[in-house]
Amino acid sequence: MALDTQDLQDAVIDDRERGVFRVKRTTMTADAMWHLERKRVFDQCWLYVGHTSEIAEPGDFVRRKVAGRPLVFVRGRDGEVRAFYNSCTHRGARVCRQDHGNTKSFQCFYHAWTFSTEGKLVGIPDKEGYAHAVDPAELGLRPVARLACYRDFWFVSFNPEVEPLEDYLAGAKEYIDLVADQGADGMCVLPGTHQYACNANWKLMVENSVDGYHGAPLHHTYFAFLASQGDDDGAKQLRSVEARAYDLGNGHAVVDYPAPFPRAIARWHPIYGEDAKDELQGIRDELVDRCGEERAHRMAETCRNLLIYPNLLLLDVAGLTLRTVWPVRPDYMELTGYALAPRGESAAQTRRRLEGFNLFLGPGGLATPDDIEALEACQEGFAATAEDYSDISRGMHRDAATVDELQMRAFWREWQANMLGLGHGAHDEGPKPAPAGVAS
Ligand code: FES
Ligand SMILES: [Fe+2]
Repeated sequence: MALDTQDLQDAVIDDRERGVFRVKRTTMTADAMWHLERKRVFDQCWLYVGHTSEIAEPGDFVRRKVAGRPLVFVRGRDGEVRAFYNSCTHRGARVCRQDHGNTKSFQCFYHAWTFSTEGKLVGIPDKEGYAHAVDPAELGLRPVARLACYRDFWFVSFNPEVEPLEDYLAGAKEYIDLVADQGADGMCVLPGTHQYACNANWKLMVENSVDGYHGAPLHHTYFAFLASQGDDDGAKQLRSVEARAYDLGNGHAVVDYPAPFPRAIARWHPIYGEDAKDELQGIRDELVDRCGEERAHRMAETCRNLLIYPNLLLLDVAGLTLRTVWPVRPDYMELTGYALAPRGESAAQTRRRLEGFNLFLGPGGLATPDDIEALEACQEGFAATAEDYSDISRGMHRDAATVDELQMRAFWREWQANMLGLGHGAHDEGPKPAPAGVAS
């Protein structure tokens, strides 16, 4: 199926007058959509690569795959952070074959070319064997076009012309701040990664991660478990008057709601036991001193599922989870989950937060398997109904509640604008930009 502009215009119906928003399911099944997404979305945007704490010391590195491209994210022995393609400049093999570590250099296992942690070519066996003068300066590891950091969250872009990261992050910055400020000495990624996969289109997990509509029906086991622990408020909080969704611009969106979960930050819950009360109160007092009552309240007693377009989720829910969603094929995605914590928190606090993370969002937790099952069920349904539309209209006529679908519409408007080559999409359900140009 070759795509033209009309196909992309038809992919999303955004009728503000009638309050109808629909997405054609071929956007989640067609190879042509996926190929164009790589060019128009993943090759254009800023994409999350890692956190400062993962490469805290000179020589620290982590291996990452970002939009299908193998990268090394490394702090050079000179202290600078860089991102290189993990491909040897000799004949292309991966030069870094470990997920993480600390090194003086990267030596390619194929013919032993050696690169410094700053990416310079520093060793070639039998250099005299090359008739032409080998210029090591030309043959260093190739850096990714752009690399930038906001509050210790690092992003790469394959687009040399991409806008500055802070402009791109738009209204999401304030929500990143609410996470980054939770630790007096900053935040860190805890060791260990959840890695799992789902037989569904990547956009379904992006939608799901900011979808308050499904919480009560799909995750009733979790809420029943909380009720059995003496907390029957859970599912109700998702529908409370303070629960709101916001379009943060540039495809980013958030749902922001009073905590329905035990949160291992300054909010006591029966599940933690009486012993935890003093420590949690101390953490809350420190937050109030440092950040003021209003921000301390938001950090401690509200949850925020933040989508940073296109595929990073910062889920400040039962734990504090960084989730990335990577498309591999139209009907298959790979996911990673990392736990974040204030640097230097107590072992007891870390245990509480990891229990919260695993209990709800772990691959074997009480929510993630439900979500995976739901997304795979949607994808299976698309096999029979790819030409049909999914409805994402809920709440178009009212102030957006978390159980509405404004946050998905924010994502899809940006996605459609990107696919049409228009740059950023409409924001806050304002007027839609006029399409122009021809998609190939
Ligand atoms: S491919 Fe790396 S040294 Fe040959
Ligand atoms: Fe869910």
